[in-house]
Amino acid sequence: MKTLTSLRLQRMLVTAVAAVAVALPWAAGAQPMVIKFSHVVAENTPKGQGALKFKELAEKKLPGKVQVQVFPSSQLFGDAKELEALLLGDVQLIAPSLSKFDRYTKKIQIFDLPFLFDDIEAVDRFQASPAGQSLLTSMKNRGLIGLGYWHNGMKQLSTNRDKLVRPDDAKGLKFRIQASDVLEAQFRALGANPQKMAFSEVYQALQTGVVDGQENTWSNIYSQKFHEVQKTIAETNHGVLDYMVVANAKWWDGLAPDVRKALTEAMDEATKHANKLAYDINESDRKKIADAGKAKIQKLAKDDVAAWRKSMEPVWKKFESDIGRDLIEAALKSNQ
Ligand code: LMR
Repeated sequence: MKTLTSLRLQRMLVTAVAAVAVALPWAAGAQPMVIKFSHVVAENTPKGQGALKFKELAEKKLPGKVQVQVFPSSQLFGDAKELEALLLGDVQLIAPSLSKFDRYTKKIQIFDLPFLFDDIEAVDRFQASPAGQSLLTSMKNRGLIGLGYWHNGMKQLSTNRDKLVRPDDAKGLKFRIQASDVLEAQFRALGANPQKMAFSEVYQALQTGVVDGQENTWSNIYSQKFHEVQKTIAETNHGVLDYMVVANAKWWDGLAPDVRKALTEAMDEATKHANKLAYDINESDRKKIADAGKAKIQKLAKDDVAAWRKSMEPVWKKFESDIGRDLIEAALKSNQ
């Protein structure tokens, strides 16, 4: 009796294993497609929130078909590596700041020209214009396709010195910059020493005095605790730090049309969400920095701002032929 039962059990087991084996190819086919989205900032920032929103929407629109894995804070790739990783297919989506694309198209340097945009609303209008939209596809021949612009905000200037009111106060100081030739020229125009450096290394470089200062948005300064290792943050609003969400063009074009359509919709909604949050996050982080009382927020009078503008603006001429006068005109129009 016992033997019969165990025989039966054994047979049932064999049948079950065979059934699983038959089902396996189907099961493998039913695995969701994994989309890795890597970025370098914290989750409580405009980009961090945008990436999470995209995950939520994409998985809702394509249930069981896609799984979006978000890797914040340079966990997967720092900004020295993320573009290469995207082109190699190790990650499917990234959202580098616009300053980090200048190896792929010179035109995108428009966004780094100091004092070109009056405020983030002007940046928004330019990005939505035909000229701004054309930049999304300008790197396709290099394997990158832009899916949208995400805002962070306007940049402020911080240093480890007590005074940062006039351009002369920056003279001779070492500033960390993103990998951008325009930003390098901008700091050289001030008589300062720019140093290109990955975002993940900035806090330590400021803390140990490898550099004296940096430029960034309130949200990046706060979420990276830069204000804890800087003495003064001058409210210059001298430039913009925004993002382009990019995909590997070959991967994107190879997606099934219905999947690409749903992901496009998810991206458009996530873009609206991130851009709506960006201004408020920066405002509230500015307040948190003020409340923390570690770095002093230096407000600037109109003529101080005019002095910074005068010192930095010669940079435009240097890059005009690479960027194109027409694009600069289009950007200037967005200030009106
Ligand atoms: C920086 O390197 O300072 C920024 O581009 C980081 C980011 O992605 O906001």
